[in-house]
Amino acid sequence: MTIPYPSIQTLPPLGAVSPPSGAQRPRLTFIGTGYLGATYAVCFAELGYEVLGVDVDGPKIDKLAAGTLPFHEPGLDELLHKNLGTGRLHFTTDYAEAAAFGDVHFICVGTPQRADGMAADLSYVESAVAALAPHLTRKALIVGKSTVPVGTAEWVEQLVHKYAAGLADVEVAWSPEFLQEGYAVEDVLRPNRVIFGVKTEWARDMLYSVHKGVFDLAATEDREVPVVITDFATAELVKVAANSFLATKISFINAMAEVCEATGADVTLLAKAIGYDSRIGNKFLRAGVGFGGGCLPKDIRAFQARAQELGVGEALRFLHEVDLINQRRRQRVVQLATELLGRAYGPNGPDLQGVKVTVLGATFKPNSDDVRDSPALSVVRRLVRTGAQVTVYDPEGIENACRDVPQATYAKTLNDAVAGADLVCVLTEWEEFRNADPQALGALVAGRRVIDGRNCLDSAVWVRAGWEYRGMGRPVVR
Ligand code: UGA
Repeated sequence: MTIPYPSIQTLPPLGAVSPPSGAQRPRLTFIGTGYLGATYAVCFAELGYEVLGVDVDGPKIDKLAAGTLPFHEPGLDELLHKNLGTGRLHFTTDYAEAAAFGDVHFICVGTPQRADGMAADLSYVESAVAALAPHLTRKALIVGKSTVPVGTAEWVEQLVHKYAAGLADVEVAWSPEFLQEGYAVEDVLRPNRVIFGVKTEWARDMLYSVHKGVFDLAATEDREVPVVITDFATAELVKVAANSFLATKISFINAMAEVCEATGADVTLLAKAIGYDSRIGNKFLRAGVGFGGGCLPKDIRAFQARAQELGVGEALRFLHEVDLINQRRRQRVVQLATELLGRAYGPNGPDLQGVKVTVLGATFKPNSDDVRDSPALSVVRRLVRTGAQVTVYDPEGIENACRDVPQATYAKTLNDAVAGADLVCVLTEWEEFRNADPQALGALVAGRRVIDGRNCLDSAVWVRAGWEYRGMGRPVVR
């Protein structure tokens, strides 16, 4: 039976649908064991489901099966070990095995920015569906989790019909994820909402039964998890709209930082003051070097590209501005460095030849080893271009950073990194940097100059310790 829209519905109790495999609870596969798929696979095993993680990358699957995560995420290692031990969690590269095992198959593959423009590359989604569908021999649900342009779910449905060869009754649904790196385990086990983009009651009820573990956990903690039932297009849009809103909020406060810099005002106080208005709220108003990562930057670009295709490009033109504000913040650090070091602008921009700059932070945010579109590394590249000698230290991101920006020097410890520096730039707000002792660091550097690219240091304490301090969107403290 098809269901009416728009609606937020009270869902039927568990038991309304039985998993086609005959198992008591639906068996789940997560296709693509990158950041998203691996986290979901581990967390749903933790919730009591039988889970199979699937990937075409054999070495990655072998590592996961042996209990090693290919990325850093707090708390996930322990859960991976625990659930490998329970026998509920397995990994494979074999799509035939996945099809035979699963009732519900989650597509968790990457949708990176295309090399030839702003749009999302959907080739991994296509190859996942093309690899799975021919092996499906009984009813199953394919659920998209990857962030995709609106219209993708309909296209996946067509792909399923093309590749499944009519042997099985396969349905499609879309259920976007909202996990934040660094908090991914919490976000999967205790989501603030779940979205079921479905066409039929069967798909809706199957998704309910897949999330029963999440609802049960919430009930034991006296919480509720809101469920929003939507059509395909709305479900796809919820994700990109949410990320666009978050990106806009960050660029809004960074635009205010630019105005503060021109007027002597302090953006941290401004953010605090406007954030007391509950209509505005105080989250995602931290001005600094801007947003990065594998999601917000590419999602706002792909959304603009899709809106152009749909003939509503004008509606999202502001996202171009959001992107520009974000890029300008990276260059602002180089500008501040040039000013602070008393250096001149040459024919090719700032000239920092012969200057030793230490950059603290390489990842796009703390508690992650992810350096994709990292503002910190973008600044490192820019500083290298000025002729500066750049040394980088990051508690978790060095290995990935070395691969991306081999022109910089990488230090193993904070102390090694700052030794002899003319300027220190804090570009990722790791706890180790926030808690660093400016007196002790001051004894190691050649010049006590610091740029606080995340406004995460106590400026008064640093200034008292003899440092020349510059924040982002903040007046000069003397
Ligand atoms: C983001 C969203 O927050 C998640 O809800 C979403 O599920 C995810 O993308 C995704 O699409 O998969 P994430 O990329 O982990 O999560 O990072 P965020 O915590 O959103 O931070 C993004 C960037 O914004 C970071 O570089 C961070 O330093 C920066 N940021 C954040 C600021 O500059 N200021 C702030 O106030 C907040």
